[in-house]
Amino acid sequence: MLIDCKSIAQSIDSETLSFVQKSLVKPKLVSITVKPDQSTISYLRSQQKKAQSLGIDFEIIDLEDNSLLEKSLIKVSQDKSIHGIFVAHPLPAGVDEMRIAELIKADKDIEGRNPLNLGYLAYGIEDFAPCTAMAVVTILSSVTNLVGKNVVIIGRSTTVGLPVSIMLLRRDRSATVIVCHSKTKDIPSITKRADVIVVAVGKAGFLTPEMVCDGSVVIDVGINVVDGKIFGDVDKSVQEKAHVTPVPGGVGIVTTSILMNRVAKNAFRGDMT
Ligand SMILES: NC(=O)c1ccc[n+]([C@@H]2O[C@H](COP(=O)([O-])OP(=O)(O)OC[C@H]3O[C@@H](n4cnc5c(N)ncnc54)[C@H](OP(=O)(O)O)[C@@H]3O)[C@@H](O)[C@H]2O)c1
Repeated sequence: MLIDCKSIAQSIDSETLSFVQKSLVKPKLVSITVKPDQSTISYLRSQQKKAQSLGIDFEIIDLEDNSLLEKSLIKVSQDKSIHGIFVAHPLPAGVDEMRIAELIKADKDIEGRNPLNLGYLAYGIEDFAPCTAMAVVTILSSVTNLVGKNVVIIGRSTTVGLPVSIMLLRRDRSATVIVCHSKTKDIPSITKRADVIVVAVGKAGFLTPEMVCDGSVVIDVGINVVDGKIFGDVDKSVQEKAHVTPVPGGVGIVTTSILMNRVAKNAFRGDMT
């Protein structure tokens, strides 16, 4: 059973369109990249397509090397005509990720990487929560009531697993959360008891049917390219037992819609000083 993420993305897009229409200025997103690889180029292309469809201006700043990254971030952070900043990851070797995240002005940080925005998350403020984590929580909230549910998250990155765990503990969601990682023992015995499983590991087909109980909800965050094809972290056959988000066409499309929504909301609010 596949979870319909397209309709979730569409409903976010309709809200975005209404912000774009009501806004006094045209929303603008800038994506910064340093020597992008093929998967980054295709991700930026999909951002461009989505931005165009929603009436959002989109600019790619493709830098020759790391040394220009800090200067470029300071410039776009100060530019009042820019409402959202995206920095393509992974960053090249040698770049201090946290320093770069700090330089993205917190209220233009549509991806939710600035440590300040991660701090707000602990207080339940999710305006700039990490966008993939926000996509996971948005999908979950649309398919199930999370209160009291046993949720197992596999992966503890600052962009996905960790923020999802914080967000699911918020009192209005009140899930019971277990976070697994590479040192966790006997993951199948933990996932088999879960109502909800979020998999963000980065290993194609990691979650298999034996690890899942019938009727559970499974969110597949993984994007793995194998022989030129995209696979999630969840084995296809899990769909026979559980409600699963597709890859592609799942968490990824909801994430892009959330990114654009934040840009449009910022433009609508105005005052990007
Ligand atoms: N759809 C989207 O929009 C989107 C956005 C972001 C990422 N992604 C995808 O999501 C996946 C995860 O991304 P990420 O940035 O969170 O990755 P990451 O930073 O590499 O983190 C991977 C996590 O998985 C854990 N892990 C690795 N092997 C494991 C194992 N055998 N058993 C249990 N846990 C294991 C790691 O544990 P340790 O902490 O112990 O090392 C780590 O916490 C990737 O495929 C990525 O491409 C998708």
